[in-house]
Amino acid sequence: MASVTVNNIRKSYGHFDVLHGVNVDIQDGEFVILVGPSGCGKSTLLRMIAGLEEISGGEISIGTRVVNDVAPKERDIAMVFQSYALYPHLTVEANMGFSLKLAKAPKQEIRERVRQAAQILGLERLLDRYPRNLSGGQRQRVAMGRAIVRQPQVFLFDEPLSNLDAKLRVQMRSEIKQLHQRLKTTTIYVTHDQIEAMTMADKIVVMRDGNVEQVGSPLELYDRPANLFVAGFIGSPGMNFIRGTIAEGSEPSFRSESGVLLPLPSAPPVEAGRELILGIRPEQISVASGGIKGRVALIEPTGSETQVTVMLGNTPVIASIRERIEMHTDDEIAIRMDTSALHIFDAKTERRIII
Ligand SMILES: Nc1ncnc2c1ncn2[C@@H]1O[C@H](COP(=O)(O)OP(=O)(O)O)[C@@H](O)[C@H]1O
Ligand SMILES: [Mg+2]
Repeated sequence: MASVTVNNIRKSYGHFDVLHGVNVDIQDGEFVILVGPSGCGKSTLLRMIAGLEEISGGEISIGTRVVNDVAPKERDIAMVFQSYALYPHLTVEANMGFSLKLAKAPKQEIRERVRQAAQILGLERLLDRYPRNLSGGQRQRVAMGRAIVRQPQVFLFDEPLSNLDAKLRVQMRSEIKQLHQRLKTTTIYVTHDQIEAMTMADKIVVMRDGNVEQVGSPLELYDRPANLFVAGFIGSPGMNFIRGTIAEGSEPSFRSESGVLLPLPSAPPVEAGRELILGIRPEQISVASGGIKGRVALIEPTGSETQVTVMLGNTPVIASIRERIEMHTDDEIAIRMDTSALHIFDAKTERRIII
């Protein structure tokens, strides 16, 4: 196993800059997820770590070795892609043992390591099958098996679950996490899916437009997003944002653009009139008599909870409510926000303001 250090990495295709100086420190044995919208540079960064993409600037180290000029096969990494890239004319066993065969490992050792990986992944009874006779989930497992048999220092995954249906994705998510708990191999995993990132990672790196926006544990990012982008990206349904300013008066409160007053736990350290965005997560809003009055615009039950869109003036706010409360669209209801859970961002810089 090994640590991985990404130091001020830049990537350009001609005049087009894709990565603008990215820093990421990955500890030995850590499970790190790079997450961000499509096109933000996740795959490019992963491919640079793998050695499949030239580095335009900066340094990548695996363990204590700088690998900028080290060939992919000398880096001691194994990569699993979204397209499983299995050889159709080879059995599961031959697919899994392929890299060891290329490396001219003894037959007995190949067999042994393939058996071990197959056992870990529950593939023992499928070793004689061909890829076309496997389900999507089984193919994905074979692709992982192929990586495991190599016993690399680092696993790299690029959206490995994107081709699976929703239910299987959830199952494979747990399997990959358990696999990591068992093997403890340093893992770098790319996804655009924030739920995958939240549920699986030790550490999440949120990327946007070739920059790192924030690095932290799943709950650090959820509870203390550094800026509006991270606040909106992590969590589903997303955090509610309400534009406004601090209201003048004896009690600390926030006045939304449409004139609704929201109580604050304390006065934030900002001058009067500064444009702000108040953030509140849907589950931190409850229906409570005597609260802030609004009109119900939409009711969306999911079973475990109901998402209610409430208009506060002309600002829509989504509340996730676990109780079964009888209500209808156009009803007037009162809501209460858990003021200990509010976030405040500067509207111009979009950065979090500490309160
Ligand atoms: N070979 C290439 N030539 C030019 N532009 C590329 C190439 N590969 C990727 N890009 C661009 O780099 C950006 C980042 O791509 P990518 O790393 O694949 O994003 P992600 O994996 O986050 O969706 C995109 O704008 C993409 O169009
Ligand atoms: Mg990608």
